[in-house]
Amino acid sequence: MSENIVEIRNLVKWFPVGKGRFTALDGINLSIGRGEFTGLIGPSGSGKTTLLNIIGTLDAPSEGEVKVLGRSVGQLSTREAAMLRRHELGFIFQSYNLLAVHTVYENVEFPLLLLKMSKSERHQSVMQALEWVGLTDKIASKPP
Ligand SMILES: Nc1ncnc2c1ncn2[C@@H]1O[C@H](COP(=O)(O)OP(=O)(O)O)[C@@H](O)[C@H]1O
Ligand SMILES: [Mg+2]
Repeated sequence: MSENIVEIRNLVKWFPVGKGRFTALDGINLSIGRGEFTGLIGPSGSGKTTLLNIIGTLDAPSEGEVKVLGRSVGQLSTREAAMLRRHELGFIFQSYNLLAVHTVYENVEFPLLLLKMSKSERHQSVMQALEWVGLTDKIASKPP
């Protein structure tokens, strides 16, 4: 049986609005297996970002359980969540958060500076990632 890297059971997420609550996610159940390529599709305001923020440990469930790599997102401390993100998760944000003064190479290398990697290991990793997405010839460019 393949391992699930994401397991979501009865997830509810609400936000306080004025004196009441706005329920953005109302009873989500979802499993994602290792190696699966999953897309999340829905109209604007349907809760995609809210769900991704919780899977990405940037936000916590109001009710229910969200497990990422076996770790319960609602129960992680700020530091534990930061470590999980640093070592296990990757994000491409809608507004990319690229560093304008740095090159493409340096932007990709930046999060790796937090890891215990040698310069040559980082180089290998950066070049591999850029090759995957066809950006090898842009390493010295800066973001537009
Ligand atoms: N911090 C918040 N406070 C109140 N309402 C929010 C908050 N974040 C999201 N919402 C509401 O939750 C719903 C889902 O938002 P969102 O997850 O951003 O949807 P999507 O990414 O699918 O467009 C929207 O109606 C949005 O207005
Ligand atoms: Mg969104």
